[in-house]
Amino acid sequence: MEIRLLDPRDAAAYQALRLQALRGSPHAFSASHDDEAARSLDEVAARIVPAADGSVCMFGAFEHGELAGFVALIHPQRAKLRHGVELAGMYVAPAWRRHGLGRALLQAVIAHARAIDGVRQIGLGVNATNAAAKALYASAGFASWGVQPQALRVGDAFYDEEHQLLRFDAGN
Ligand SMILES: CC(C)(COP(=O)(O)OP(=O)(O)OC[C@H]1O[C@@H](n2cnc3c(N)ncnc32)[C@H](O)[C@@H]1OP(=O)(O)O)[C@@H](O)C(=O)NCCC(=O)NCCS
Repeated sequence: MEIRLLDPRDAAAYQALRLQALRGSPHAFSASHDDEAARSLDEVAARIVPAADGSVCMFGAFEHGELAGFVALIHPQRAKLRHGVELAGMYVAPAWRRHGLGRALLQAVIAHARAIDGVRQIGLGVNATNAAAKALYASAGFASWGVQPQALRVGDAFYDEEHQLLRFDAGN
């Protein structure tokens, strides 16, 4: 397994896996397949390349050279928000689940965030019914601080979203 930042050469593999994620795990993402299916490879490349100002980057997990998972880290650049980063869009392909890729991606995000001067915490949102993701985040020390009722609508069903935080100053 290799964990590294994605770059424009990964655009085609990322787009294929991202659309697989949106199709196969609609309850895990706020974006829908139709939102992203029409994106050109140039748009995708621009989206996955680390932003020059450090506001966003995307980590990929590779098995035998193939992209098998990804996660994004968003770092707001406004002065009053710079002490926090947001984790978003975590996904591991079904064939590679329970092989440690999700944990490795999470550890990469945590290490990256810890290395940014002034960052004190990582936030994320997770569907309250997503037991696998919640177990993964809990194992890294994330704690829930609130639940937004009916935050996500998929078809006719509504899902609560759990907001979680990993605070570096709390011994994590
Ligand atoms: C959640 C997800 C990223 C986990 O990825 P993964 O590579 O399978 O996770 P890992 O193998 O690194 O597992 C790490 C820990 O997470 C927990 N975990 C992972 N999958 C689990 C499951 N199905 N049930 C219970 N706990 C689970 C366990 O604590 C596990 O540690 P263990 O294997 O030592 O018991 C993956 O299931 C996935 O992509 N799901 C669909 C998309 C999704 O839900 N994304 C999250 C959006 S917030």
